[in-house]
Amino acid sequence: MNKLDAVTKFFETDKIYLDERKKLSEKYGKREMWEVIDPWPLYCGIANLAIKLSVADLLRSTLDVPGHVAEFGSRRGDNLLFMAKILRIYDPYGSKVTHCFDSFEGLTEFSKQDSVSLTDAKDLYKASYEELLDFISLYKMSNEIVIHKGLIEKTLPKLLEENKALSFSFVYCDTDLYSSTKIILESLHDRLSKGGLFVLDEWNHEHFHGEGVAVTEFLKEYGHKYKMHHVRNTRRPNLVLEKIDF
Ligand SMILES: C[S@@+](CC[C@H](N)C(=O)[O-])C[C@H]1O[C@@H](n2cnc3c(N)ncnc32)[C@H](O)[C@@H]1O
Repeated sequence: MNKLDAVTKFFETDKIYLDERKKLSEKYGKREMWEVIDPWPLYCGIANLAIKLSVADLLRSTLDVPGHVAEFGSRRGDNLLFMAKILRIYDPYGSKVTHCFDSFEGLTEFSKQDSVSLTDAKDLYKASYEELLDFISLYKMSNEIVIHKGLIEKTLPKLLEENKALSFSFVYCDTDLYSSTKIILESLHDRLSKGGLFVLDEWNHEHFHGEGVAVTEFLKEYGHKYKMHHVRNTRRPNLVLEKIDF
């Protein structure tokens, strides 16, 4: 178990589950990838299933809100493709597309607010851009997913400058770090439609404090325009900011 990913409240039960799971994979050996993926509810752990169900519920709650969907921090792209597939199922004739923002370099932009440093998190969440493109291509989703590759601190301001009318209904923040979260919230506040959601994956996190600090600073200025919601039944995402006033 990655020490930085572990949550103290669940540590013991997670450890038992992961040890037992390892024994099962040793017992039954390697299988062809799709043989495991197609019957996925058999193999998927409850905590991971809970994350996906929560994301589906939240995203579906914004389908009538105008604007696009965005994910900041997509890594391998599982949440990204999950959201794009939800749109394909529930909004097949609508204009919403899913924007992905990632450098694919992992965590690199640390600030003093982050409480973890590059040394603790070296290469954490590095991912393959090419592999993501292959899966987008497998599902013929290149018109439904737009990738902005590079540091969010650069790609987001540029995109907003070049597209003055671009707006969003659902923004998933999962970079774990202060500087990107601060830029996302502050620069998308004006572009999030009324009824739209900022969803935070690591707010109040035991190890990564930066996302929470960025949210606190944002709410000091804009808190009167948002309603905070706790997300039950999952460890993450763990905060939703619903825009209630434009
Ligand atoms: C925790 S992972 C995201 C996990 C992903 N949402 C999922 O469901 O598997 C964090 C991601 O944020 C990206 N990231 C972090 N800081 C970034 C920044 N300043 N600019 C661009 N990408 C960043 C990393 O490359 C990494 O892919």
